[in-house]
Amino acid sequence: QQWFAQSRELEGKKVLVTAGGTMERLDPVRYLTNDSSGKMGFALAEAAANRGADVTLIAARTTAAPVAGVNTVHVESAEEMLEAVLERYESADLVIKAAAVADYRPVVKASTKIKKGNEKLVLELERTTDILQTLGERKKHQFLVGFAAETEQLAHYAMDKLRRKNCDLIVGNDVSQAGAGFNVDTNIVQIFGEEGLVESLPVLSKREVADRLLTQIVQRMKAAPG
Ligand code: CTP
Ligand code: CA
Repeated sequence: QQWFAQSRELEGKKVLVTAGGTMERLDPVRYLTNDSSGKMGFALAEAAANRGADVTLIAARTTAAPVAGVNTVHVESAEEMLEAVLERYESADLVIKAAAVADYRPVVKASTKIKKGNEKLVLELERTTDILQTLGERKKHQFLVGFAAETEQLAHYAMDKLRRKNCDLIVGNDVSQAGAGFNVDTNIVQIFGEEGLVESLPVLSKREVADRLLTQIVQRMKAAPG
């Protein structure tokens, strides 16, 4: 049994959360994706809704159970996620980008199933749009939170992403640690702000991580109302 915040301090706030791993199609039956389960983003959506927020969850491929009381929009690719997020960005107060967005997609998406041929097949990939960076560039009143999945130099890369993508907070997780990151129910995260490390959390359930993160977010949104 876990204890979660009971206050309704996000009442009246519009919160946009992205979750899951995007799928980038090669052909009608094949795609490139990643190990993201979507659990962290779904936990965040639930935690924000519990605090009274009006939550929209933009979900790519996921194994997480649907969250009651949260408006969930399903998308497949990075491009679809970008569109779904931009449509709702203007009216959002808080955006949390927990999704594992593909960095590359196939240049060609075959309209029919690719047939096997030669011994080797080379796939040509191109960069997707960085959604978080786009949001950072267009940021006005929104409080923007990103994630940084790293296997080395967590603080260094997390701070680099915070600055480069104009985020208010970055949640860094070392995905090489057991009990953290992809496809498990727990996570070990460090929260970074403009000033550097804000909080280092022990191994916790993703739902607890979500709550602790929201506590930091709410404090900072109060300090600097958008
Ligand atoms: N992100 C995004 N759009 C992309 C790629 C990443 O919005 N096309 C977001 C993720 O949702 C996450 C943050 O950027 O909140 C960091 O993602 P991550 O993969 O850790 O960093 P990248 O900037 O993609 O850099 P790299 O993968 O090279 O470490
Ligand atoms: Ca990436």
